[in-house]
Amino acid sequence: MAWVKQKPIFIVFEGVEGAGKTTQTRLLYEKLKRNKRMVIYTDEPGATLKGFQIRSILLEKDDEELDPISEFLLFEADRAQHVTQVIGPSLKKGFDIVCDRFSASTFAYQGYGRGLLSKFSMLMKKVDELARNGVKPDLYVLLDLSPEKGLNRIKGPQTRFEKEKLIFHHKVRKGFLEQARQNPKKWLVINASKPPEVIQEEIWQEVQKRLQKIT
Ligand code: TYD
Repeated sequence: MAWVKQKPIFIVFEGVEGAGKTTQTRLLYEKLKRNKRMVIYTDEPGATLKGFQIRSILLEKDDEELDPISEFLLFEADRAQHVTQVIGPSLKKGFDIVCDRFSASTFAYQGYGRGLLSKFSMLMKKVDELARNGVKPDLYVLLDLSPEKGLNRIKGPQTRFEKEKLIFHHKVRKGFLEQARQNPKKWLVINASKPPEVIQEEIWQEVQKRLQKIT
């Protein structure tokens, strides 16, 4: 099959635990492929070999507390590796990227959830800029859901984040909504309690509009 020549689009899915990001990221990936786009599916943390090692430090709970600054820096280290090895080269080759979580998760979880943003706003932005190395998403899709509903949907063993208290997850949700409010042109906010097919269609409408603008 001949691929069409294209300018790539970089789309990120964000949201609280159990919001349905992974499902929607996969659905969009498939849809773009069916529409003859060259596209790569990826996620954070842990999309590279080194990143996968970092991921286990971040998600597994053991006897030693992880300092919030270490946590922040590890997510950014994972991101630097991800951008250098996967996202940057793929965008250069003209591939679209659909990515399950990116920088906005760091601002929501570490910035708002852990409370780092109120003290270190400038520093966080600078370090994130360093890790992104000039790469910026074109669109953030926020699947917005109450943490109560999201956590209820989660089955199986819980990660260090899923085990956090409800108040933490409420701060994270607020962090996402705040980022969306500050940059509405880059954010599509979707009520994630709707059926997956309806959500998928809403996302597809928006992505099509954006694709028409860049090609
Ligand atoms: P994961 O198992 O990949 O689940 P999901 O992304 O589907 O929720 O877990 C990643 C966890 O890491 C998730 O709880 C959110 C958290 N996280 C941060 O705290 N900061 C970040 O910058 C990123 C990318 C993720």
